[in-house]
Amino acid sequence: MTDTLDPMPAGQAPDPTELPKGPKHVAIIMDGNGRWAKARGLGRSEGHKAGAEPVRAVLKAAHRLGVRFLTLYTFSTENWGRSREEIDNLFDLLVRYIDSETMELLSSGVRLRAMGDIGRLPSFAREALAQAERLTGDNTDLTLTLALSYGSRAELAAAARSLAMESQRGRIDPAAIDEDSVSSHLWTSELPDPDLLIRTGGDRRISNFLLWQLAYSELYFTDTLWPDFGENDFLAALSDFHGRQRRYGRVD
Ligand code: IPE
Ligand code: IPE
Ligand code: MG
Repeated sequence: MTDTLDPMPAGQAPDPTELPKGPKHVAIIMDGNGRWAKARGLGRSEGHKAGAEPVRAVLKAAHRLGVRFLTLYTFSTENWGRSREEIDNLFDLLVRYIDSETMELLSSGVRLRAMGDIGRLPSFAREALAQAERLTGDNTDLTLTLALSYGSRAELAAAARSLAMESQRGRIDPAAIDEDSVSSHLWTSELPDPDLLIRTGGDRRISNFLLWQLAYSELYFTDTLWPDFGENDFLAALSDFHGRQRRYGRVD
């Protein structure tokens, strides 16, 4: 079952035309590919392969509903601890996705960008990403950010390092460092904070994703494994989001 304030019976999706606009930024921890494959007697890589279709479906639905920023946790710093075979396969799949989708992204107004410790990625993946980023760089309808070799603690440490260096060079007064200075030194500096975080796959944890940025995001957890997640599941998450009351520590 999903952790919802107003649970929707399984299989019943809301009518998209009845949903209010937004949220502006949705972030997703796409989890459960390995378990999906295991349940079918397949190798983990088959689960990752099956995970491409939900990306297409969610992107399409998000675009249609006016979501401006979609951020997908695609590969974490901790995922480097997986087998060489699984990692190689994941980057092959990533490049295949980029090759097959970039023209569609370009024509549909989607800007693709990658964030994370991109220097650690294999060069063929870095090149494919850089080309797709260049090609789609002028698009403004929706920004699709792939978090790759991403870890929020690494991101915060990098921000602290660069603030310290700027202050050492006299470009910034340490006493003037505030929340906005930190935000503007994160890999997400171009993005607003997520309004909604969705995690598929049943676990209710953040796994080193957007620790700073999620301070006031609404969290939505579903047991649905990522390869099974479709447009209706996304609409159900958005419908749940629209039922939430965001108070930001205040009272009504
Ligand atoms: C998420 O699915 C994809 C990545 C982390 C790359 P998993 O591969 O973590 O799938 P499970 O959690 O083992 O089922
Ligand atoms: C989070 O999933 C990372 C991605 C979805 C890319 P993991 O499967 O790596 O997270 P844990 O290990 O269950 O926390
Ligand atoms: Mg997992």
